[in-house]
Amino acid sequence: CRKCRLWQSRTHAVPGEGPADAHIMFIGEGPGREEDLQGRPFVGPAGQLLNELLAEAGLRRDEVFISNIVKCRPPDNREPLPDEVAACRDYLNGQIAVINPKVICTLGRPALHALVDPGLSITKEHGQPRQVSGIVVVPLYHPAAALHRQDLRPQLVADMAKLRLILDRVLCQR
Ligand code: URA
Repeated sequence: CRKCRLWQSRTHAVPGEGPADAHIMFIGEGPGREEDLQGRPFVGPAGQLLNELLAEAGLRRDEVFISNIVKCRPPDNREPLPDEVAACRDYLNGQIAVINPKVICTLGRPALHALVDPGLSITKEHGQPRQVSGIVVVPLYHPAAALHRQDLRPQLVADMAKLRLILDRVLCQR
């Protein structure tokens, strides 16, 4: 893909991974260094923490779909630029359409802004579910943020536990 400039510096595109019939999707910001090298999402330090958080919430990594708002690593892990997010959007929309998840969990501010509303504050919205086009969206802090700020970790653990309850409730309504 050469729809934006990120192809120039990538090693691998990182489309995402998980079962096509997953009930829940986790959507992060963009691949980091390790993800770029391996071509897989959330396999670096933030991924390690995500794996722990999933396990604490009783979710297996192989039952959830994990992706990002941009599929190629932004240089030096900078935030993806609006035109890069826009250029990649069809891929994300295609994944959401095929997987048709009951719940989408956004990880971090850029994913919240891309999927819900660019005016929202992650500090206010984290852990608060809302409906977007018939899908329950639960914004979470990004696991990488909790690696830098220890005080965010208990919030992430609590929000992940809440996410588990939301998912169970949504699946019961089917
Ligand atoms: N951070 C992200 O947002 N996505 C990844 O895949 C890895 C780290």
